[in-house]
Amino acid sequence: MNFTILRFDSIGSTNTEALNQAKQGAEEGLCVVAKAQTAGRGRHGRTWVSARDSGLYFSIVLRPKIEIKFLPLLTLMSAVVVTEVLQEFYELQPDIKWANDVHINGKKICGVLAEVAETKKGLAVVVGIGINLTSANFPSKLEEIATSIEAETGAKPNAEDILQNLTKQFAKFYRIFSGASGAEKIREEWAKKSSYFFGKTVRVKLEHETIFGKTCGIEETGALRVKTDAGEIKVIQAGDVEMLRKS
Ligand code: BTN
Repeated sequence: MNFTILRFDSIGSTNTEALNQAKQGAEEGLCVVAKAQTAGRGRHGRTWVSARDSGLYFSIVLRPKIEIKFLPLLTLMSAVVVTEVLQEFYELQPDIKWANDVHINGKKICGVLAEVAETKKGLAVVVGIGINLTSANFPSKLEEIATSIEAETGAKPNAEDILQNLTKQFAKFYRIFSGASGAEKIREEWAKKSSYFFGKTVRVKLEHETIFGKTCGIEETGALRVKTDAGEIKVIQAGDVEMLRKS
């Protein structure tokens, strides 16, 4: 996978730009990066706070040749990529909260937003990644729940170095995913890096209900299995999963 980096000083959302570029025919590997976002987007319609140089904000255009049912695994893969870089280059010990939030000591350091677009060249997926570099400009409501590389290591990292490391690891895992038994290998990597894979006591907020139970593995598509207190297995495709207590 070859990356073409498209840089912006400030932009609404790198995901929106990458989606537009994909619709105009951009090749796989286009990577839109911005120093600041004025309308950064998170999952479930939330805002992603994107102050200048406080985070790394980028989005990659993919044209995956994988079975449609496995597309959700791209977000799990992206969390694996970020986790790998944080471990290898910053000696941090991140955890992946299902499906794709990267946490350190229970605080969020990275989020992933994957979006799909129909384009004249076929289906495109945009994977947007936001990593907190410094906590200096966090709004007060984030201080309790979010962290940054600077807060965890004591030094503000160089955004360019991280981007290089991330694109390299992204290419590696995307190659694995696109190869033989790729989906299985990505699930295995994810399971190794996430304490949410098995035996975590959680509360899951769905659109119309909230369920309580223990995690018990993931489906082949990456959906989370939760065994409720009544012993029923629920399969979570999308929802907010929260740890209830250390388990
Ligand atoms: C989440 O955890 O809710 C996902 C956050 C994703 C944020 C990134 S920052 C780069 C890209 N552009 C966006 O507008 N969102 C993603």
